[in-house]
Amino acid sequence: MRLLGYLRPFIGLFLLSTVLTVIMTGLDVFSLVLVIPLLQNLFGTGTALTGPQATILERALDFVAGGFIDAGSPLESLRNVCLLVLGAIVLKNAALVGSRWAALSVREGVERDMREDVYNHLQLLPLSYFGQTKVGQLLTRVLTDTRAARDAISYGLADVIRKIVTALVYTVVLLLTSWQLTIVALAMVPVLAVVLAPLLKRLRTGFRDALDKQGELLSVLQENVSGIRLVKSFGAEDHERRRFAAISELYRRRNLKTSVLSDLASPLSETLSSVVALGLVWIGAWMVLGEGSLTAEQFLFFVTVALQLISPLKAIADYPAKLQLSMAAADRFYEILDVPIEPPGGSITAAVPTRDIRFEDVSFEYEPGSPVLEGIEVEVRPGEVLAIVGPSGAGKTTFVDLLPRFIDATSGGITLDGVDIREFTLSSLRELFGVVSQETVIFHDTVRRNIAYGDPDRWTDEELRAAARAANAEEFIDDLPEGYETVLGDRGVRLSGGQRQRIGLARAILRDPPILILDEATSSLDTESELLIQRALDRLLTGRTVFVIAHRLSTVRGADRILVLENGRMVESGTHAELYDCGGTYRRLYDLQFTQPD
Ligand SMILES: Nc1ncnc2c1ncn2[C@@H]1O[C@H](COP(=O)(O)OP(=O)(O)OP(=O)(O)O)[C@@H](O)[C@H]1O
Ligand SMILES: [Mg+2]
Repeated sequence: MRLLGYLRPFIGLFLLSTVLTVIMTGLDVFSLVLVIPLLQNLFGTGTALTGPQATILERALDFVAGGFIDAGSPLESLRNVCLLVLGAIVLKNAALVGSRWAALSVREGVERDMREDVYNHLQLLPLSYFGQTKVGQLLTRVLTDTRAARDAISYGLADVIRKIVTALVYTVVLLLTSWQLTIVALAMVPVLAVVLAPLLKRLRTGFRDALDKQGELLSVLQENVSGIRLVKSFGAEDHERRRFAAISELYRRRNLKTSVLSDLASPLSETLSSVVALGLVWIGAWMVLGEGSLTAEQFLFFVTVALQLISPLKAIADYPAKLQLSMAAADRFYEILDVPIEPPGGSITAAVPTRDIRFEDVSFEYEPGSPVLEGIEVEVRPGEVLAIVGPSGAGKTTFVDLLPRFIDATSGGITLDGVDIREFTLSSLRELFGVVSQETVIFHDTVRRNIAYGDPDRWTDEELRAAARAANAEEFIDDLPEGYETVLGDRGVRLSGGQRQRIGLARAILRDPPILILDEATSSLDTESELLIQRALDRLLTGRTVFVIAHRLSTVRGADRILVLENGRMVESGTHAELYDCGGTYRRLYDLQFTQPD
């Protein structure tokens, strides 16, 4: 039912395809009914569309085209009947092309809308969701599941409606020819339903399993490709092969199971319908030869139509089995769409803070019960450069992630100018921050677009160059084959770790944010480049509030204040000189870095 909502924008096309389908069926029936005069002329019984035994159908045909068909001699009549059949078939196929086009347009449109919906939803999910979900599973949900689910409502539905219309029309035709025989023929429908029902239940769970395994498979593939350097250097090709083979085998088994199950539907319905067909021949022969209540031509016509009915009936019987795949995929599709998006924050538009940023008794835990930050109390004045240092895993990145609300404090809160950051709209709050994170992401795009990420036309060339210069990136960019237009990333020019960092820095500097967060932003640079950037930054940093995380303590010496984190607690805070003199953790870390081993 939820899926049907995707049909709404395409309802016109959908109806068009259905109407064309009905027209097609009508034309099909028309050419079938023409079999009767064909047989009559062939067997020399003359045209008897209006004889005492004539059915309603025959009378109707006589009414529509009787004059044309009855052309005097049997041969001429036959020719006219053939012309009519030809005309009907040509028209029917024209309608077929139209209805297919309409149905396919609906199908592709629905799939596009579903794909975009799930992608757009993904963008809005909180960061924590991505930590818990495998990339491969996301890929299959966006690509495979939407594809499998759309069939349930678009193409599959249009198709099955067509089949139902066809089956209904043919059934009426059969009823009009001989209602007794028709009842015998329809006896199989309830039997089929009873036989197929348990099959369908198992199919849905089977398909679900198979789709899950496909996601796993993609995850392994993605991990392997992005970690190929590691795989090679550890000679782990065999290990990776086994890992892939194990899941691949599971996937094969699931697929085999569901395919065999869903293929069962077809032989079952065919066996049943054969039994019915043989029964029909037997009873029909008795009606023609014994009782005489049916003419031979009518009986042949009946069998012809009944044979025509088999294919749509089979398709209708198989549809529920096919539907199970779509339903399983739709379950997975809606699992993502039902994950709540990041709350949009409050209603206040955040402005550049003129007073302080204050952490008030902030604690944070990723897993309930194991706090990563505890009781943090800090005040940062505008324009202050605050360095955060401490051992790896102390919680430094977690600390700065709280500011743009990538994560929210478990208890306590952060205020800007006295307003809790949760009261600002998320977009205006994030606008205040420029973040250079520990791992720089480079997109498969030009240098220019990588630096001016998100809004390439907002800045002039001059501004772009100035940002690159400040990040000490200008020189290497000018050396690239096409300068700022060089394509970077997977299939473009590869950058060294330090070059990537400088692109990341330029990206943040260009935005000219009032608050800058630098998380190990210069860690991959050699001492000279770092020093150059440091100088450039010193100029840039004036008038800006900066949070800077660095392991190399020489980079943070000049900070207005240094905060030492250890095991999620703030253990020291002060200027370099103060902390050095008091001889605590900072002094120990600093001495370790600057004492030459004997
Ligand atoms: N997404 C996450 N889910 C669960 N635990 C996490 C997550 N991210 C970090 N942690 C844990 O939180 C602690 C602090 O991590 P954090 O990244 O803040 O450390 P850090 O001080 O930045 O370390 P480093 O200097 O190595 O970058 C670590 O023990 C880490 O295992
Ligand atoms: Mg970190």
